[in-house]
Amino acid sequence: MTPMKPARRVSARLGAIAPSATLAVDSKAKALKAAGRPVIGFGAGEPDFPTPEFIVDAAAAAVHDPKNHRYTPATGLPELKKAIAAKTLRDSGYEVDPANVVVTNGGKQAVFQAFASIVDPGDEVLLPAPYWTTYPEAISLAGGTPVEVFAGADQGYLVTVEQLEAARTDKTKALLFCSPSNPTGAVYSPEQTKAIGEWAVEHGIWVITDEIYEHLLYDDAVFTPIVRAVPELADQCIVVNGVAKTYAMTGWRVGWMIAPADVTKAASNFQSHLTSNVANVSQRAAIAALEGGLEEVHEMREAFDRRRRTMVDMLRAIDGVVCPTPKGAFYAYPSVEGLIGRTVGGVEITSSADLATVILEQAEVAVVPGEAFGPSGFLRLSYALGDDDLVEGVTRIQRLLAQ
Ligand SMILES: Cc1ncc(COP(=O)(O)O)c(C=O)c1O
Repeated sequence: MTPMKPARRVSARLGAIAPSATLAVDSKAKALKAAGRPVIGFGAGEPDFPTPEFIVDAAAAAVHDPKNHRYTPATGLPELKKAIAAKTLRDSGYEVDPANVVVTNGGKQAVFQAFASIVDPGDEVLLPAPYWTTYPEAISLAGGTPVEVFAGADQGYLVTVEQLEAARTDKTKALLFCSPSNPTGAVYSPEQTKAIGEWAVEHGIWVITDEIYEHLLYDDAVFTPIVRAVPELADQCIVVNGVAKTYAMTGWRVGWMIAPADVTKAASNFQSHLTSNVANVSQRAAIAALEGGLEEVHEMREAFDRRRRTMVDMLRAIDGVVCPTPKGAFYAYPSVEGLIGRTVGGVEITSSADLATVILEQAEVAVVPGEAFGPSGFLRLSYALGDDDLVEGVTRIQRLLAQ
């Protein structure tokens, strides 16, 4: 038998995927913790609160009903799709036909299916950077080329229409838009959102808008659904959303995409072979979440807001760190470019990846380096953790960097 050539074992397509850097940091921190180390983790992108009781109760009731032990239609329970349409009208102010909703295993599957539905090999997708680590992988898997458009701390991590226009070519198929943003917490204003939507309409460019952090906003920031700002965009827009961040439901795995009919059809055909439906009981829980009020969400947001202000103040007190005020989601994204070239804990820092390693090894604090989200020179710290741990963690970083 001819031995298999090592280069042939894993396909080029999957072999090219980088592991999720955020999950990697989180699991390294969890492993250290399991080994007894007092690690504080700023890596995870999930609320630390339990899922609100009324949602858990609905799921507990659902699990005892045999009708929920079966498959549902691949694109989701009709009641859930109706609830998603009603929620979109409530929160985003425009009508959606439930037939244009596909319920997915988390927002992540919606992101993947959105790109898979519209991107062909050779297509370019404009990707404002810093970006969430999953987007370039999903674009590349669909055969597309991610084209980074970078906006630094000096512009509040918000790209301009001029920058997008400079990056546009005749191969540009789509733009990824994420506001509030993971990783930066930046939020586009209604005017900026409208300008970007109008530019996309003018040039026939699809917009994939990831609205998963829509309810986590602070100070004067407002959520602007891009389809509401530019209704003509509806026919060339895919909305990605889910219950994970809003309702502290990361483990339940319920997200969705809203798209024009042809894209919905393509995505549902794809999903019917890939995963079929989302767990039936999780869909019942999502119905309860979407039909319930937003009271608990507002309570969680208050806690995030308090932690956000504490974290930003403490980070700004560190020499060499520049931290724009995050206005949404639950991440701070300081620039640490001022620390590159310095020696920290006996190690010369040449990148934010170096800095994150030194912080984990010497201060036992897990942060995600900017390299996971685009250019080096930044750190992402989630403030979705308890107040005391948050203060202790940033104090350790302050002490290490003051040495
Ligand atoms: C910007 C963004 N979109 C989508 C998701 C997907 O969330 P989930 O798959 O848990 O619903 C995440 C999760 O980290 C995210 O940060």
